[in-house]
Amino acid sequence: EEWDVGVERERRRQRNRKRTRERETEKDEDVDIPSRRVLITGATGLLGRAVFKEFNGNNWNAVGCGYRRAQPRFEQINLLDSIAVHDIIHDFQPHVIVHCAAERRPDVVESQPDAASQLNVAASGNLAKEAAGIGAFLIYISTDYVFDGTNPPYKETDAPNPLNLYGKTKLEGEKAVLENNEDAAVLRIPVLYGEVERLEESAVTVMFDKVQFSNKSANMDHWQQRFPTNVKDVAAVCRQLAEKRMLDPSVKGTFHWSGNEQMTKYEMACAIADAFNLPSSHLRPITDCPVVGALRPRNAQLDCSKLEMLGIGQRTPFRAGIKESLWPFLVDKRWRQTVFH
Ligand SMILES: NC(=O)c1ccc[n+]([C@@H]2O[C@H](COP(=O)([O-])OP(=O)(O)OC[C@H]3O[C@@H](n4cnc5c(N)ncnc54)[C@H](OP(=O)(O)O)[C@@H]3O)[C@@H](O)[C@H]2O)c1
Repeated sequence: EEWDVGVERERRRQRNRKRTRERETEKDEDVDIPSRRVLITGATGLLGRAVFKEFNGNNWNAVGCGYRRAQPRFEQINLLDSIAVHDIIHDFQPHVIVHCAAERRPDVVESQPDAASQLNVAASGNLAKEAAGIGAFLIYISTDYVFDGTNPPYKETDAPNPLNLYGKTKLEGEKAVLENNEDAAVLRIPVLYGEVERLEESAVTVMFDKVQFSNKSANMDHWQQRFPTNVKDVAAVCRQLAEKRMLDPSVKGTFHWSGNEQMTKYEMACAIADAFNLPSSHLRPITDCPVVGALRPRNAQLDCSKLEMLGIGQRTPFRAGIKESLWPFLVDKRWRQTVFH
């Protein structure tokens, strides 16, 4: 196994050297490379893809890291391999690192707690230390699940009290980051949706088939209050925060960002049906507290006034955002034709 690791590391070094050469050739050809560099972990994931696009499209030189899905677009880095992490940070010398990689499925965290803690806590602390070593600004993406949801809305200064192991590992990750890098930022966000590769990729988009297949009645949670947030908006907030920090070194610490439309999953499902002109009478609201799976906070609404005071923020209306995200997964093409042609 050690031999494998060695081989993998050498291959990665070769790829890095090749990329550096390519970048240098580009320079020779007078291609305009933006001077601000950002490294994005989890760039193959739901949020990371949006963050990569946002920086890449706004005059930043962006390098994305992934793991299982990295090839061919992104660097393949196992964040548990501290040498690989050290190497890429020292090769690329980013000004900013946006750390999106995590195990974020509460039920998977409960069933594989050690692996989840390695990634969410240990790897985050290590990344923070490496960022501090070269003076890069690290943004650690965290979650509203650090709160117990009994006393919303929550400010950055309110005491966290995670109910499930996922929330606990993310909170420990926050601490590991700030202990290793006092100039870092923590950005807490709630449930995400956006352009998905598969509907199951987001807790919001996964409802679409239950909405579409209206011949079958479907139970929908109507207990937990949520604030679905578009990944493009979070990505814009990350870039704005990074750009603000480049001008003002006092920008650091914990921040909250969230959409401002409060909805249960049942209400999101109805809004989705409405956005596509589909029936919703087969959807059934369940008002009891869910009994299966990891515990969830009733209402962990995030107060976003700290970022708003800095002039940072972007909010896409849910109906517009969800329609854009789900459009490719619409089954009834006839509907498309009647409405749009
Ligand atoms: N999704 C939500 O609703 C939500 C809500 C609140 C907060 N958050 C937070 O937002 C952040 C982004 O979440 P997301 O939904 O975009 O996650 P995601 O879609 O599940 O993506 C996870 C990412 O982590 C990478 N990764 C996994 N193991 C790795 C390893 N050992 N080394 C390097 N990379 C590894 C994956 O790479 P490969 O796939 O290439 O292996 C993938 O890019 C997370 O910090 C999460 O806690 C998410």
